[in-house]
Amino acid sequence: MIRQKIVAGNWKMNGSKESINALVNGLLEMKGSNSEVVIAPSFPYLSLVNELVAASDFSLAAQNVSGEVKGAYTGEVSASMLGDFDVKYVLLGHSERRTLYNETDDVVAAKVATALNAELAPILCIGETLEEREANQTFSVCERQIQAVISKVGIEAFAKIVIAYEPIWAIGTGLSASAEQAQEVHQSIRAFLAKSSEVVSQKVQILYGGSVKASTSKALFEMPDVDGALVGGASLDAKEFIAIVKAAG
Ligand code: PGA
Repeated sequence: MIRQKIVAGNWKMNGSKESINALVNGLLEMKGSNSEVVIAPSFPYLSLVNELVAASDFSLAAQNVSGEVKGAYTGEVSASMLGDFDVKYVLLGHSERRTLYNETDDVVAAKVATALNAELAPILCIGETLEEREANQTFSVCERQIQAVISKVGIEAFAKIVIAYEPIWAIGTGLSASAEQAQEVHQSIRAFLAKSSEVVSQKVQILYGGSVKASTSKALFEMPDVDGALVGGASLDAKEFIAIVKAAG
C-alpha cells in the first residue's frame, strides 16, 4: 500500500515572533512536495503561523492538548480551541511530556480520545529508553504504549492516528537510529496493529523521530515501513528541513 509521507517539524519551546517569521518565510521557499509538511509551533504562535502558511499546503500541529473538554483548568488548552486555528494534528505522548510532565499511558490515551472527538489527528509518540533497548524491551514498550490507546479508542480509530516511533536515546542526542533499526521497529509496530486489524495496520503512517537530519533522512525514507519523520532540532533550520522534505520525495 502507498502511504503518503509526512515530514513534521516539532519546534518544541523555541522561537520568537521574529525568528518564527523568518523560519516560516524560509520554509515557504519550498517547491511543491508529494509529502505532507507539518509544523508544530508553541501555542502562542499558532495563530501567527496559521496566517503565514494560509496560502501553502502546510499543515499545522500543536505540541499538546488538554485531556479535558472545557472548564476550570487554568493554563490548559482545549482541542476545540486548536480547531479554531486550523490545527490539524496534535503531538501526544512525546517522551518529554511523558518524562518531564509525568504523562502516563492512560493520560496519553485520554488525550488521544479528546483530540479525536474534536477531529484533531493525534501524532502518537512512542519509544523506548536506552536501558529498555539494552534489555530487549523495545517491542514490548512500544506495544504497551500503543495498547493503552487501542484499549481507550479502539483499533479503528488508528485510521486517523499517526504514530511516531521516537527512541528516547535518539532524541536531541545526535545519535539517530539507523535506517535498519527504525525499519525493524516500524515493521513490528505494524505487525502488532495487524493483530487487531490488518486493514488499519496497512493504512497507519509511522514516522521516525530522533536526531533526523538531511544527511540521514534519505536512507530512512527508503525503508518500506518508514512513512516520514518527526524532526526536532533540524526543523528550526529552514534549509535543513527543506532538504529533509525533499528526501521524502
Ligand atoms: P530531535 O527531536 O530531532 O531534536 O532529536 C525529535 C523530537 O523530539 O520529536
